[in-house]
Amino acid sequence: MEVIIQSTPEAAAELLARLVAHDLRVQPHLVLGLATGRTMESVYDRLARMHREQRLDFSLARTFNLDEYVGLPATDPHSYRHYMNEHLFEHVNVDLRNTHLPDGMAQDLDAECQAYEALMVKCGGIDLQLLGIGQTGHIGFNEPLSALRSRTRVKALSPITIAQNSPLFAEPAQMPRRAITMGVGTILEARRVILLATGASKADIVAKAVEGPITSMISATALQMHPRCTVIVDEAAAAKLQGVDYYRWIFTNEPEWEPYR
Ligand code: F6R
Repeated sequence: MEVIIQSTPEAAAELLARLVAHDLRVQPHLVLGLATGRTMESVYDRLARMHREQRLDFSLARTFNLDEYVGLPATDPHSYRHYMNEHLFEHVNVDLRNTHLPDGMAQDLDAECQAYEALMVKCGGIDLQLLGIGQTGHIGFNEPLSALRSRTRVKALSPITIAQNSPLFAEPAQMPRRAITMGVGTILEARRVILLATGASKADIVAKAVEGPITSMISATALQMHPRCTVIVDEAAAAKLQGVDYYRWIFTNEPEWEPYR
């Protein structure tokens, strides 16, 4: 794992957008794993701008989102399909047929989860997976006690996550209690993962995820086992980390980061 500390949330989002753009240019058929949430909005804004101003090309890319609420149709403004259309897909030249989210309305949810896993395999697996982190330390919706080898499945949302996300619903009580999510094991199979966390409210959980012991109580700690994981944080989210001097040294001195400094 490597930790990159940027001065502001904007700088952190900019760095992530530039990393995605770089990979997309090198590999136009990129299979991109996507996250939703407030943190990602400014990354998608930037990718949309790069498409408009620099012709960043999404035409051959394929995307897989981490999760979707159970019981919300794609047309529901609170669904993650709606979020993705609104924040990214409508603003770039991705072929919507190549954008995938689990179907939270499927009659047979277990079959839907298996089909989602099979589709990822058919597309050759995820090249680059973007992640946020929730207050429980979830990645995707892998709430506490998610098995470190879990696969795509239905997961009950924890009270902390319901408190985190229900204000985004017009009627907070209508937030679904369950979601389909890629498993921790599914996420760990991506060739590269990048987690973005910004703001003081993420400082405690970032420190536990990066420097704490690996535990299924905090699914983001499993990223410590990933061979190519980058955590991008702003100063506020980095505030509780112990090893900041070392992390800063790496970013300032390692040649691979030179184009991004
Ligand atoms: C959503 C997802 C979640 C969020 C996390 C952070 O697809 O995977 O893990 O990334 O809940 O959400 P924000 O960015 O709203 O704090």
